Amino acid sequence: MQIISDQLRSGRKIIGFVPTMGFLHDGHASLIRKSKEQCDVTVVSIFVNPTQFAPNEDLESYPRDIESDKLLLRKNNVDFLFLPSAEEIYPPNFNTYVEVFGLTNKFEGEFRPTHFKGVTTIVAILCNIVKPHKTYFGQKDAQQACVIKKMIKDLQFDFDLVICPTVREPDGLAMSSRNAYLTNDDRQKALLLSQSLDEAKKLIDAGERNALIIVKKMNNNFIPEKSIHLNYISVVEVDSFSEADILEAGKSYFILIAAKVGKTRLIDNVLVHIK
Ligand code: PAF
Repeated sequence: MQIISDQLRSGRKIIGFVPTMGFLHDGHASLIRKSKEQCDVTVVSIFVNPTQFAPNEDLESYPRDIESDKLLLRKNNVDFLFLPSAEEIYPPNFNTYVEVFGLTNKFEGEFRPTHFKGVTTIVAILCNIVKPHKTYFGQKDAQQACVIKKMIKDLQFDFDLVICPTVREPDGLAMSSRNAYLTNDDRQKALLLSQSLDEAKKLIDAGERNALIIVKKMNNNFIPEKSIHLNYISVVEVDSFSEADILEAGKSYFILIAAKVGKTRLIDNVLVHIK
């Protein structure tokens, strides 16, 4: 892959890179389409990265289907699939990690304390191999994108990060490989996440500027739903992920939600701009 990337770069090709953990869906396809629109060559990696899973998490059961992934890549005319093995990426004496501090303590970092260290480490490794000019990440994992942006800035990595909008199922559920874990009943209940985000957005459109009121109203939706265990709902500033009290004109915020629906942990968010 490094040799191919060097050749592409010496041929002055712009390399777009979409790192994934496979079990590809329309959300990934939208990242690929954006890369194809903006770059000469698109590389997709599939690597279920062990270091971003804690021992009690779903590394073993994480959904995998390499044949259908390859079909999606072919259908979208992806130029290169980079499919390394865990041994190639993490050989026996591997002992170097990349960690962003601060931003990674809260929200996802609170519930998954080792997660972001694994993410930044693998993104750094993959980008050193693929040598992209532009990388593509989904807004669904907004905190991940923000952490990677900070890593790029602090470590002076020489590639851009492009964040693409969340792709949703027709009924509003944010696309995620982990949706495959949902039972039919949980799948129905999971809609409460995107519905609550919609409701929050409508409140803001109608003039509500108090984040506490927005969060409280969202929380109330979940009180009757005993099989959904909320992890957090919060309104945060887009760049710092600092919690907001009063939404200010001219600023942008993410409304974040994370919950366990049955046995499946889901996250979602919406981006709001205050006029
Ligand atoms: O978002 C993902 O799928 C993963 O966290 C990533 C960025 C591919 C790193 O393993």
